[in-house]
Amino acid sequence: MFSNSSIFKKQVVAFTGLLLIFFIFTHLGGNLFIYAGPGVFNSYAHKLHSVGPLLLLPRTLLFIIFVIHITFTCLVVIENIKARGGHKRYSMQKSVGNRSMAESIMPYSGLYIFVFVIFHIIDFAFANQHGVRSFLHGRSYGLYGIVFNSFKDPVYDLLYIFFICFLGLHLCHGVQSLVQTSGFRPKWASVIKMISDYFALLMILGFSSIPIYVYILSRP
Ligand code: HEM
Repeated sequence: MFSNSSIFKKQVVAFTGLLLIFFIFTHLGGNLFIYAGPGVFNSYAHKLHSVGPLLLLPRTLLFIIFVIHITFTCLVVIENIKARGGHKRYSMQKSVGNRSMAESIMPYSGLYIFVFVIFHIIDFAFANQHGVRSFLHGRSYGLYGIVFNSFKDPVYDLLYIFFICFLGLHLCHGVQSLVQTSGFRPKWASVIKMISDYFALLMILGFSSIPIYVYILSRP
């Protein structure tokens, strides 16, 4: 019973994680329109918003998936700690190098991602698209202007790049630990691991390129 429910929790984490990865992938695709200039980027955002209240449905769904993913991850972590019990201290001393380091930062990277996603949504998704933050050279450039003005600031850029790298790390090690505990055949485990590594790299390079591009473009 215990192991069954434990497997179920891991499956929930894996499935919701997969859905979140799908969102991140489409979000990256949409954000890359920034390279096509304000017209294309804003018309993409406009198309999204033109569905009106219908947009609330996928956003609510995304939020629920996010909450379920975090809740079940916490449950799995608590279960693992309980299962390891007194051996935890010993195994932490014994494990050397990357794996234990990566594992031990998972709760912190998870927390940082959580806080930053909330900040990011308030900052971009709830921003007044015709407010003062959207102005460039005395004219409103909508969401493009907001993103552009935000990424002009190097501190802001570093916070974003840091967040994106943490997200990449979180994804790699999350997938790695799930694969290890889910009983996949070694061949499949290594294929899944390779795909997740490449995806994380693509995500880090793709998302980070935006603040770097804006920063370079906004230099006098
Ligand atoms: C350079 C990187 C990024 C840029 C420029 C960016 C840009 C944006 C913008 C402009 C919005 C508002 C969209 C709208 O209201 O139409 C938004 C929303 C959002 N972003 Fe990002 N984003 C970035 C990275 C990320 C990452 C790495 C995540 C991963 C978790 C993320 C998660 C979200 C979520 C959950 C929303 C709210 C849902 C939505 O409006 O689609 N963003 N982002």
